[in-house]
Amino acid sequence: LASIRTPIAGIAEGEQITVMWRGGPVFIRKRTQSDIESARAVELSALPDRDARNENEPGLPATDENRSAQLVAAAEGVEIDEALRTSLIVMKGNCTHLGCVPVGDGAGDYNGWFCPCHGSHYDAAGRIRRGPAPENLHIPPYTFVSATTIQIG
Ligand code: FES
Repeated sequence: LASIRTPIAGIAEGEQITVMWRGGPVFIRKRTQSDIESARAVELSALPDRDARNENEPGLPATDENRSAQLVAAAEGVEIDEALRTSLIVMKGNCTHLGCVPVGDGAGDYNGWFCPCHGSHYDAAGRIRRGPAPENLHIPPYTFVSATTIQIG
């Protein structure tokens, strides 16, 4: 399918669901306040990849804000709660090294995702911090079609 719609209201804080889009996994996570704070405390200079890798707004720096749902468009007349925008992160679930599916839920040394294939550690914003992966986890194009549903693609 070119695009899919996924309800997000049922995802609890600190929980991730995985959906399939164009033959690959997409992680949708509602982060906790401490996830967000840990990701925001990181200086850009500490990041191996400083590009946000966000297809919704290509070319931006890899701040937590630029990787969360803060920049994501909403359908006309739809208001998205700011706390939801801050906490929500949607990413392609393939390691940017050789494509394995990283383990989530705060895995790895940076409170995010860990790829067991060759040891890549991603932080709570899905940014590569250590290991062979060259890029942050990629963020697919998506929009809010309602306050409780996103469309990927
Ligand atoms: Fe993830 Fe190699 S595929 S570290």
